[in-house]
Amino acid sequence: MISPEQHPSPEPEYMNAFSDTIDGKKVELFLLRNDNGMEVALSNYGAAIVSIRVPDKNGKIEDVTLSYDNLSDLRAGKSYFGCIVGRFANRIGGAQFTLDGVTYNVPKNDGNNALHGGVNSIDKQVWKARKMNDAIRFTIDIPDGENGYPGTMKVTVVYSLKADNSLVIDYTATTDQPTVVNLTNHVYFNLSGDPSRTILNHEVAIRSSQFTPVDSTLIPTGELKAVKGTPFDFSASKPIGRDINMDDQQLVFGKGYDHNFVLDKRNPSEAAVVVVEPVSGRKMEVFTTQPGVQFYTGNFLNGTEKGRGVSYAYRTGFCLETQQFPDAPNKSQFPSPVLRPGEKWVGQTIYRFSIQ
Ligand code: BGC
Repeated sequence: MISPEQHPSPEPEYMNAFSDTIDGKKVELFLLRNDNGMEVALSNYGAAIVSIRVPDKNGKIEDVTLSYDNLSDLRAGKSYFGCIVGRFANRIGGAQFTLDGVTYNVPKNDGNNALHGGVNSIDKQVWKARKMNDAIRFTIDIPDGENGYPGTMKVTVVYSLKADNSLVIDYTATTDQPTVVNLTNHVYFNLSGDPSRTILNHEVAIRSSQFTPVDSTLIPTGELKAVKGTPFDFSASKPIGRDINMDDQQLVFGKGYDHNFVLDKRNPSEAAVVVVEPVSGRKMEVFTTQPGVQFYTGNFLNGTEKGRGVSYAYRTGFCLETQQFPDAPNKSQFPSPVLRPGEKWVGQTIYRFSIQ
């Protein structure tokens, strides 16, 4: 058993645990490192972040993600640890939408709704990989009709690690027929470095005045609701656990936070989200070009996913999935997720680590 402190380091054994051939395609682990000792491991299976190792206030380098120990666990995983989700991340109500007068039915893989692009979508496929200087580029072509979505979509995701401890994720997508797009990364963070602890002590600030309330199946009602006076007000930093158990219908529906926050207009150099874990002193800032962020507090984690010697329990990781709004294909008042031939969808999200 590997303890959280001794979690896998990029030794040959660890690299081998993530190497295989699937359907004739080579799967490997790729490492990005910088001079501060920060290190990011990436797999071309699901274009996934396998680990992010960053120093704490004492210089101790630990993994700040919920991660698996090997490729077979990554393949079997049901919680989307670290992977890219698409072509439409998050939910589509009734697993159906109409585009240019044509109705498309996509798989119902979350009750009556569609979640994260369907079954065996790009999170469960082998991407092409190319090493660049301080970056790894992953590409995949999603065939027309896969999971019911129209258009062959070409997707590129580039991960770069910078000298200032920024992990930059650049996304592009093009299509040969009108379609809908929502691409994000689903990495779970626990900045303490100890994934046996919950994330409730992490202090979070979100530059958001409104969120999109949901029905009991987590489909947005279409309303943009002011966060002021609700448990969803993170305009001033507060611990995740402060209001998470309040008697609030939205929190009951999400079993905690599992909601899209509408990001306020801001200078691109201003973080959309800032998270601090007070014991380790680790700070993470999230910058994004996307209009929303799904703040998900690991409410469905129940110990079935394992890694680093730990069964990942309820609320031991949180996600900040930068995104188009959930169910946008059915909500004309939300920013449009439609992508047409000749257009290029471009998105950038940065997770920057420091000490506070
Ligand atoms: C969703 C959660 C879901 C999780 C894992 C998140 O993006 O909002 O409801 O449980 O993904 O599937």
